[in-house]
Amino acid sequence: MNNDIKHMKRAIKLAFLGRGRTKTNPMVGAVIVKDEKIIGEGYHENYGGPHAEINALNSITSIDEAKDSTLYVTLEPCNHEGKTPPCTEAIINAGIRKVVIGMLDPHDIVSGAGVKRLTDAGIEVVVGIDNEEISHSLTNLYESYIVNITSSMPFVTMKFAMTTDGKIATYTGDSKWITGNEARKDVHLQRSMHDAVLVGIGTVIADDPMLNVRLERSDYPPHMIAAGSKFKNPTRVIVDSQLSIRVDSNILKTAKDIDTIIATASDDEEYIESIKAMGANVIVCAGGINHNNNDKVNLQKLFKELYNRNIATVYVEGGGNINFSSLRDGLVHRLHAYIGPKIFGGAAAPSPVEGPGVQEVKDCYELKLRTMQTFADDVKIEYDVRYK
Ligand SMILES: NC(=O)c1ccc[n+]([C@@H]2O[C@H](COP(=O)([O-])OP(=O)(O)OC[C@H]3O[C@@H](n4cnc5c(N)ncnc54)[C@H](OP(=O)(O)O)[C@@H]3O)[C@@H](O)[C@H]2O)c1
Repeated sequence: MNNDIKHMKRAIKLAFLGRGRTKTNPMVGAVIVKDEKIIGEGYHENYGGPHAEINALNSITSIDEAKDSTLYVTLEPCNHEGKTPPCTEAIINAGIRKVVIGMLDPHDIVSGAGVKRLTDAGIEVVVGIDNEEISHSLTNLYESYIVNITSSMPFVTMKFAMTTDGKIATYTGDSKWITGNEARKDVHLQRSMHDAVLVGIGTVIADDPMLNVRLERSDYPPHMIAAGSKFKNPTRVIVDSQLSIRVDSNILKTAKDIDTIIATASDDEEYIESIKAMGANVIVCAGGINHNNNDKVNLQKLFKELYNRNIATVYVEGGGNINFSSLRDGLVHRLHAYIGPKIFGGAAAPSPVEGPGVQEVKDCYELKLRTMQTFADDVKIEYDVRYK
């Protein structure tokens, strides 16, 4: 394998360690190489924290070693003062001779400016590596960031678990469990990698969920354990137009410990204040369902507001009505369907996407298959959602 490919692959692997922690910042990994040996590496670990290039430089025992080295970085280094000083200056000051960049930053305030600053300082800059696997990995790494930057909206993944005959509960409402332990662990891992998890009030009333991350350290993939990654609870978002959530629900009882947002169309100030006193935030955004129903939450407004609050990725976990509304409002980018090897049958048994549905086949929401994975006897299918 060519060395550029080898080092960029390592930088990409490092970048992914920041998943779920960088909020509206992109995940970035960096590797510093001298005489064909890796002398430093790092990744953007936390929103507001040092960027990958700085962490890689800081990992070198003596900064003098960086002189005449090559930096491999997954995204164009920034050239502006943000929460941290510009990375280009640190690269120039360290005496790095060559910078290999995976992808130009699509963000207006960076795009091209980082490359220009480096080349103006006499550093050799290479943008992009001609390799299919690298391109594919970079697309995966930056798909949510590109959605964030181009639409100022979060990247949204919808998840559901269903039986092989497409049911999410029996006709009596019994639903525990449709999939096995391994698949459920994957769901918890996915939760920990998202900034927010969102459900409708129907799910809260039916299941009284916690929507937190319940994993043992050993459940993390080995490379994440090695990097010292810790589990993180996403912000919990409950869509509850009429403020039907009970003060003794698991969500409100734990709202002081886990970030919680109740999105509502209600103007019941008294109940809003008591919810706030329990530790939850409240977002009022009416006008849902075709934008003309002031009794329902407007999901488009809600998702925009979540992005304004630095929530860059949302994991929608149902139920069927919220799933349908999210699809109909054009908000979903990715679908994770977990399928358990069970059949419930029953015309009255619920399915993962309900609401009114579409009238004709031509009106359907189309999916494009990405990957399939098995967890013991369960199957996980990942799709892209294609809006017409
Ligand atoms: N197997 C799985 O993967 C899975 C996952 C989650 C849930 N579930 C099951 O799904 C069932 C609950 O599903 P559900 O459909 O009744 O509840 P839901 O989708 O969780 O919540 C629906 C409620 O959300 C509120 N809402 C507010 N704004 C809305 C909007 N713009 N569009 C749609 N709804 C809006 C409405 O109540 P208000 O008008 O009162 O606000 C609506 O009744 C439970 O049985 C649960 O166990 C299964």
